Amino acid sequence: MNSSSSHPRGEPNRRTPQSYGLDDVIVADTELSDVDGRSGRLTIRGHALHELSGQVSFEALLGLLWDGRLPEPRAEREIARALGQARMAAHAELWRLTPALALDDPMDALRAGVAALPPGADERAAALQLVASAAVISAGWWRLRGRERPIAPAPDVSHAADTLRLFGLANDALRARALETYWVTVADHGLNASTFAARVVASTDSDTVSAVTAALGALKGRLHGGAPGPVLTLLDSVESPARARGVLEGLLARGERIMGMGHRVYRVRDPRADVLERALLELDAGQPSPRLELARSVETAATELLAERYPERGLRANVEFFTAVLLEAIGIPRELFTNVFAAGRTAGWCAHIAEQRRVGRILRPAARYIGPPAVSGS
Ligand code: COA
Repeated sequence: MNSSSSHPRGEPNRRTPQSYGLDDVIVADTELSDVDGRSGRLTIRGHALHELSGQVSFEALLGLLWDGRLPEPRAEREIARALGQARMAAHAELWRLTPALALDDPMDALRAGVAALPPGADERAAALQLVASAAVISAGWWRLRGRERPIAPAPDVSHAADTLRLFGLANDALRARALETYWVTVADHGLNASTFAARVVASTDSDTVSAVTAALGALKGRLHGGAPGPVLTLLDSVESPARARGVLEGLLARGERIMGMGHRVYRVRDPRADVLERALLELDAGQPSPRLELARSVETAATELLAERYPERGLRANVEFFTAVLLEAIGIPRELFTNVFAAGRTAGWCAHIAEQRRVGRILRPAARYIGPPAVSGS
């Protein structure tokens, strides 16, 4: 395709990089979450992030996102029971997803597996099915990749502990709690690219499964949910704190981006990086591991270098930076990081899909035509 055009890009429709990225364009009202990029605050349905992360279960967060308030213990147990049943149902359907599970990339497998699910009519049932399936399909892919049989879910344990079990990973209370803290931290985050994708599909009055399938495609991208694996590759290449600045300088000189740094909205350190770093310390029994020490030195060097280059941008560590180190410490293989992110974010997508559907108007922006004018008289 030819991207050049003789058509003028003049006033009054002149586009800036900001308008191409839809920065600050408001296309929805939401009661779900608010991202304050200047002060570095994330609010989820009236709760500051630090009141939720490490404080409430993932099941309770589902109640908050889907029903509007943190559930009472009985209601929380009911959500846990329904989610356990949904894991069982998803496991029973795995055999139907064999072609998807044979794909090489785990996010492709998850997207194709989710796309093959029946849409269903009931919004709540679809949301439970999708949250459960995101974990069960990803774990199924991992087990089959290792030539092992998928593990049957244990519906009575927490979603986090059971997910680690399904992957065949150590699922002690400390690790399960760390995964839960991670999921509560990433479950919803304003109108990020994948949530927007889900809302666009929902606005057409399409079904929840289709909207989540679109969101998975958006999340897979390296600039969105695909960053944490490369963050570990970066830490591996740095090897020791003393080398951090030199390695990063080389990377920037080659025109590459430092993965896990920068954010469209935050101009300060991503608050999710703070809570994930705390969760890491908890997992390490209060003593930073050598890996965490290395990550901190890379973050410091990256912050300094990016401040020198882009003093006005405020490029700081984002959620993916400490996601990488935390998921690694939990024992999750790095090729599964984006899938595990998706398993938590599905909760937020489903809440946004329901909210968008209530608007009842199709999302349909405009593009400025810069192609050649029609040849008159032909
Ligand atoms: N490393 C190096 N340079 C970076 C950077 C990074 N991590 N993040 C932004 N920049 C640079 C850009 O190259 C751009 O420079 P230019 O004007 O010379 O082209 C400038 O900063 C402005 O960046 P911009 O692309 O406008 O930021 P954005 O808001 O569109 O992008 C991200 C936000 C998250 C996509 C971007 O910061 C990034 O690519 N980060 C790395 C990937 C990542 O961690 N993604 C997870 C996000 S949660």
